[in-house]
Amino acid sequence: MTDRSHKPRWTPPLRRRRTPDWATQTPTWQDARPGVIADALKTASARPSGNWFVVGASRDLRADERPHGRTVGGVEIVLWRSDTGLVHAGPGVCPHLGAPLRDSRVVCGTLVCHWHGLALDGAAFAGWEPYPVHDDGVLLWVRLDEIGGEEPLDMPVVPVRPATGNGVDAVFTAVGRCEPQDVVANRLDPWHGSWFHPYSFVDLTVARAPRGGVDDAFVVDVSFRVTGALVVPVRAEFTAPEPRTVVMRITEGEGATSIVETHATPLTGEGDGQPRTAVVEAIVAASDRRGFALARAAAPALRPLMRRAAGRLWRDDLAYAERRWALRSTGRFPG
Ligand code: FES
Ligand SMILES: [Fe+2]
Repeated sequence: MTDRSHKPRWTPPLRRRRTPDWATQTPTWQDARPGVIADALKTASARPSGNWFVVGASRDLRADERPHGRTVGGVEIVLWRSDTGLVHAGPGVCPHLGAPLRDSRVVCGTLVCHWHGLALDGAAFAGWEPYPVHDDGVLLWVRLDEIGGEEPLDMPVVPVRPATGNGVDAVFTAVGRCEPQDVVANRLDPWHGSWFHPYSFVDLTVARAPRGGVDDAFVVDVSFRVTGALVVPVRAEFTAPEPRTVVMRITEGEGATSIVETHATPLTGEGDGQPRTAVVEAIVAASDRRGFALARAAAPALRPLMRRAAGRLWRDDLAYAERRWALRSTGRFPG
């Protein structure tokens, strides 16, 4: 008889969990002390970003004739990808007479203004100065020194992700009427999980809150609800590697090393009475399971599902962030 004892035992990824009564879960408000969340936000805000801002999914910017227009911190920018795959970025206002460069065309890798044909190959020209841009393979980042106001860094602070080729990634974007800090504060309150999102989370407990200094992670035990009574129990860590990013990394359980990166990019300028912020969320799911190779092959079909799941959570989380902003801006925020 073959000895199979040395082989890891196959464990089903899904557990059955009777749907608990929402109202009978343990309240988390006493643990979710506003001071702990405020301190975590302060720690994140003090970290350097090097003036890099996430502007969207790398996959969405294709080497075709359409450039992308974005507004970051009230500044109009244009991005395009040349035939070689290189991404260019710069002011979105044509230096000639101000045409919106997002409506121009890319011809053989060169951006051609549709008003009078001024051509930009990505290098400084006629008063137009390019912005440093970084394509990390999942997300695009642009460095805007005037908006960031920090010491510039050569590269953005990109979270460590599952090894390339070992994950299925999807990027979800939404816009809220709030500032980046409201989005970050929402993510630094893990206690709201199974109360506010009972359709996605059950049995959430915060095993450890940040203790200050380098010990800045929230460690959370939670079950993700897949469907009905089927859940996937995991341990996850939340950290904020820079002021506008919160990373949730699964550290134990199904899909360990998978991450969800939430990036908050201000669309409006400082002091704008009606701020708007883009939430750009990158989900990079990984698994050692054999079936996951199939999932990778099915990635184009999986992406919309992953985006839909993120979208449902963010409908509620943006309501939280927008509410936080509404209260803060009128001096009604508790505490
Ligand atoms: S406004 Fe762009 S070329 Fe004239
Ligand atoms: Fe949430």
